[in-house]
Amino acid sequence: MSKIAELNETVELRIGDKSFPFPVITGSENEKGIDIGPLRAQTGYVTLDSGYKNTGACKSAITFLDGELGILHYRGYSIEELAEKASFIEVAYLLVNGELPTKEQLNSHVLGLKAQNALPEGMGAFINAMPKSMHPMAMLSATTVALSGFYPASDDDYTPEKVARTMDRLMGNFSGIAAAIYRKGQGEQLLQPDNRLDYVGSFLQMMYGALGKEYTPDPIVNEALNTLLILHADHEQNCSTSTVRIVGSSHANLYASVAAGITALWGPLHGGANQEVIEMLEQIKADGGDTAKWILKAKDKDDDFRLMGFGHRVYKNFDPRARIIKKACDSILAKLGINDPVLQIAKDLEEAALNDEYFKSRKLYPNVDFYSGIIYRALGIPTEMFTVMFALGRLPGWMAQWKEMRDGGEPIGRPRQIYTGETSRPFVAIEHR
Ligand code: SDX
Repeated sequence: MSKIAELNETVELRIGDKSFPFPVITGSENEKGIDIGPLRAQTGYVTLDSGYKNTGACKSAITFLDGELGILHYRGYSIEELAEKASFIEVAYLLVNGELPTKEQLNSHVLGLKAQNALPEGMGAFINAMPKSMHPMAMLSATTVALSGFYPASDDDYTPEKVARTMDRLMGNFSGIAAAIYRKGQGEQLLQPDNRLDYVGSFLQMMYGALGKEYTPDPIVNEALNTLLILHADHEQNCSTSTVRIVGSSHANLYASVAAGITALWGPLHGGANQEVIEMLEQIKADGGDTAKWILKAKDKDDDFRLMGFGHRVYKNFDPRARIIKKACDSILAKLGINDPVLQIAKDLEEAALNDEYFKSRKLYPNVDFYSGIIYRALGIPTEMFTVMFALGRLPGWMAQWKEMRDGGEPIGRPRQIYTGETSRPFVAIEHR
């Protein structure tokens, strides 16, 4: 439930000899926002904020970030506690419903998911028909929007029952679709979920299992994946979540809105960075592991190389998720008996960057993508599937944000602009051009 302090605070904008008061909104964590709703009507002016670095798109009660202090809360619970004590499905329930589930609520939620998680007839043929050369994120987006064709359009009606069922279907099918895309790359047919297993266990079975054979997930892998999915579950108004919200604001259905979010997440500056990080670390390893050379390249304005997995629009301190993943790297690789040389290269890069004025002055720290790929790789997940894993984690956050936007009756998102093109001019016949 949204908590806004009613302090009747205002700010004044002066234009010429006129002053215009605007109300200030104070959030439950004391963030301040100027409500410029009446700005254009009162002054004829719009604001301009490339990349929305200073612009709040909405009020939201789902996730709170403090970029200066490196704080991340889902519905008031710290990411550190949730990563250590909760299951991914509990966190998914929390994000969508606002409270951690009781035992009964969790059991019935899990039953609801299992009742909807069988991949529809024809899904395998649809996935097989896509070109093998397609990136898994393209396949994931295409298959997600195709779900609107596999299920009745009448389910798009925005009623609590139909929204709940669609969310269960999407959450239930999504892991199977991700696994089917992986198996297509391995030349294998998709497997249906094994509902004797939990959500992560069933995903692992659909990834690595064999038809007709019982699959027992490795508890170390299951626990590691559960933690990674929680850490990726939501992150307030990031690029892909903002995409889901704005597409949903046109009342496009949930499948279409999430499919759009998947394509936004694919970008190398966003979720695609986790794949780029491993490719970068491999490149540095192949180049002899000279991290100082690559730090110089990252600082060189004439070199378009960036230290992937570093920097963040909001975190100007440590990304708390990166801290947890870095710690998990050491323990998971040790438990699995894996010695991955790129882990040391990553640590050396981090050490060098955190002691370098260029990175310190720009407050560039490791973000969620810097170490995650090392764990995915240790779990046997191929590099081109890393961003699919990010999407798997982010799905409940996307659904929660989409639902909050629709429940709030938000208007269609339609930003304004400042036009800088040609002023009015008469048409010129082609012979006179
Ligand atoms: C995610 O928003 C979210 O919450 C996203 C996310 C989520 O959970 O949804 O947290 C997930 O997307 C994490 C970010 C993953 N992306 C990367 O790791 C790609 C590498 N990082 C960047 O490209 C960059 O840091 C961004 C895109 C993350 C943030 O970019 P900004 O906020 O627009 O900052 P900027 O590009 O304007 O950079 C500011 C300065 C510039 O230098 P100057 O012009 O001031 O001299 O910092 C430099 C940049 O050149 N810089 C980097 C750098 N990142 C920024 N220089 C070298 N290496 C980098 N990685």
